[in-house]
This record gives sequence, structure tokens and C-alpha cells, in this order.
Amino acid sequence: MTREIIIYPDKRLKLISEEVTQFDESLHNLLDDMYDTMVSKNGVGLAAIQVGVPKRVLVINIPIKDEDQGRDQPRENTLEIINPVFEERHGSTVFQEGCLSVPSVYEDVDRFEFVKISYQDRHGNRHEIENDDFLAIVIQHEIDHLDGKVFIEKLSFIKRKKFEKEWKKSGKIK
Ligand code: CO
Repeated sequence: MTREIIIYPDKRLKLISEEVTQFDESLHNLLDDMYDTMVSKNGVGLAAIQVGVPKRVLVINIPIKDEDQGRDQPRENTLEIINPVFEERHGSTVFQEGCLSVPSVYEDVDRFEFVKISYQDRHGNRHEIENDDFLAIVIQHEIDHLDGKVFIEKLSFIKRKKFEKEWKKSGKIK
């Protein structure tokens, strides 16, 4: 079932999401709904707070490097990342990002080039993943949401001002 996506500058996007301690049916329902919501909007990633749930839960829907070639089940490619922690990050890169909570806005953002994270799956089992490609960008963007940050807050002062002005004009601020 899809859920409604919270749109910037809703204050809930500023919340620091809490660690998941119960790997139960309500978590599984949340993950399933987040997947449906992300896919319905053609997104590549979604954090739980974007559907109003302040928990450290992400879904990411891009193929894992070298591992998922040739699979045709999108759901199998979906990463479910719970309680992620950065283990390593280095290098720097610039990538044009967008966000389902800031629709139709795309801006260059500075990120680490390489990240390694540890996280838990829907059953609480621990995993690690590392990447130096698009997935690394998406992971950083989504973990920012868990810490109450939206990508446009990483823009330069001038670009941010321009964004806020245009966002207001677009009528998305009530
Ligand atoms: Co986002």
C-alpha cells in the first residue's frame, strides 16, 4: 500500500529518526509500504521519515554493483537498510541529486565517493555493504534523511536562496 510522501519544508523532515529495536510485523508492513510508495513515484530511495515515520529505515531500489545483473524482479534488487552506520567513507564526488520530498528539483551535491556501512535487515540480521558508485550517493542522501537533513540544505548559500525563492513561487510552500 502506498503512503503519502511528506513534502519540504514540512517540519517532520527535520526529526532525528530513532533506532529500530523491534523487527516485527509493523516494521515489515512499513518496509512493504515504503517499497510501494517509492516505486509508485519512480524513486531510487526512500527514508521512513518521508512517509512520516521517524525510524532509521531506508529502502533503496538500484542494482547492487556487479551482483544483480540480469535479474528482472525489481523487488529482489531492493535493499532494505535498517539502523545504518558508516564504517568508512572517503574521497569526494559531485552528483546531481533529487528527492521525492522536493519534487522536480535537481541540484549538484558534494558527497564522499566511497562508503561502507553496516546495517540490519528486516529480520535484524547484520550486514555490510560498500560502494563507490551511484549506490554510495543514494546511501548518503538517505542516511541524511535519518538525521533530519534534506539535500538542498547542502547547497551553497546563494543556490539555497535561489531555491527557496523558486520553491515559494512554485506554490509548494503554503
Ligand atoms: Co530524499
